[in-house]
Amino acid sequence: MDAMKMQKVMRVVLVLFLSTCHAAFSITDGLLPNGNFEVGPKKEQLKGSVVTAQNAIPNWSVTGYVEYIKSGQKQGDMVLVVPEGAYAIRLGNEASIKQNVKLTKGLHYAITFSAARTCAQEEKLNVSVVPTNEKRDWGQIPIQTMYGSNGWESFSCGFVADFQDAQIVIHNPGVEEDPACGPLIDSVALKVLNPPRRTRANLLKNGNFEEGPYVFPNASWGVLIPPHIEDAHSPLIGWIVESLKAVKYIDSEHYSVPEGKRAIELVAGKESAIAQVVMTTVGRTYDLTFAVGDASNACEGSMMVEAFAGRDTVQVPYQSKGKGGFIRGKLRFKAVSTRTRVRFLSTYYTMKNDNSGSLCGPVIDDVKLLSVRYPRRAGAA
Ligand SMILES: *[C@@H]1O[C@H](CO)[C@@H](O)[C@H](O)[C@H]1NC(C)=O
Ligand SMILES: *[C@@H]1O[C@H](CO)[C@@H](O)[C@H](O)[C@H]1NC(C)=O
Ligand SMILES: *[C@@H]1O[C@H](CO)[C@@H](O)[C@H](O)[C@H]1NC(C)=O
Repeated sequence: MDAMKMQKVMRVVLVLFLSTCHAAFSITDGLLPNGNFEVGPKKEQLKGSVVTAQNAIPNWSVTGYVEYIKSGQKQGDMVLVVPEGAYAIRLGNEASIKQNVKLTKGLHYAITFSAARTCAQEEKLNVSVVPTNEKRDWGQIPIQTMYGSNGWESFSCGFVADFQDAQIVIHNPGVEEDPACGPLIDSVALKVLNPPRRTRANLLKNGNFEEGPYVFPNASWGVLIPPHIEDAHSPLIGWIVESLKAVKYIDSEHYSVPEGKRAIELVAGKESAIAQVVMTTVGRTYDLTFAVGDASNACEGSMMVEAFAGRDTVQVPYQSKGKGGFIRGKLRFKAVSTRTRVRFLSTYYTMKNDNSGSLCGPVIDDVKLLSVRYPRRAGAA
């Protein structure tokens, strides 16, 4: 092949590659347009802090009692702080915000957003993705988030796109006496998740948790993954949060993570467990190995992770000084079914020692499942 031709081939390859990357990053990996609400309404579209026109916030459409909040604004004796930039919005009773998005059919997406409660002890949000063509209402993913502590937290949910033109809707279904009591919302992001794959090196999908929801570079509190019933709605690809409470997705930028850049913190004791169902051969021996540690987030004390595989279980104790570190756990089991449920939970409830009252817990990472070809007899391992 002469040099000229070679150059032409390379250029074509390069252009294709760049355009694919460009599409992936500019549209689907990060904040939605004006996702942090930094571009606000015009003066005449505000009455005090209340938004008076449906399209006042660029790129969004609002319904009901929505307030445009500036960081530092006071509410009673509480100062409202905004995590990203200087502005956020507040959703009053039955209020919602919507944005139209273009999706690719069949792809798995995760939405991440930050929220903070204000007056009410418990506030809920209903996040859904609906086709803009309202005749079809399938594809909804109503999730209801519950705030555990004061201040801001980020939440995520996942969905598989069944349609191209969709609307992301965040709705406050609450009915408080004071309409100005409602959750604050900031930083809404979308990310495409890569399809999970089992490899020769691991029978589990996404065993190191690297494939998960978008994590805001400036949010040092991780991302909560609420419990879900359906696999397709998990933003943590391959895994399901099958218990009552959320688990926390943490990043190596802000936490100590045993392997790679992401891990899971089991923040709600026995009430938060993650699981994955894997194909196994009856009678064959398998090794489930994993890392148990702490996130270096002032979460101290005696911790214990319980791992389950089918009918077998192991408890791995871990003594945390709250400064990071991890140990390895292992569960060897003989499959009794063609489908084995692998599951992890934290035995104890732990609270941070920083007076925040926040729940915390052991970190789990680098989970691998491998078939053991020549298992030594029991006791020899
Ligand atoms: C977002 O809003 C701005 C201002 O109205 C507009 O110029 C821009 O095209 C919008 N972006 C998208 C992706 O719709
Ligand atoms: C993130 O934090 C850095 C350092 O505090 C700041 O300079 C930057 O503006 C922040 N980014 C956003 C999007 O808020
Ligand atoms: C959640 O939102 C969906 C779609 O917007 C709606 O159909 C559903 O009734 C809402 N659920 C609650 C509890 O408000």
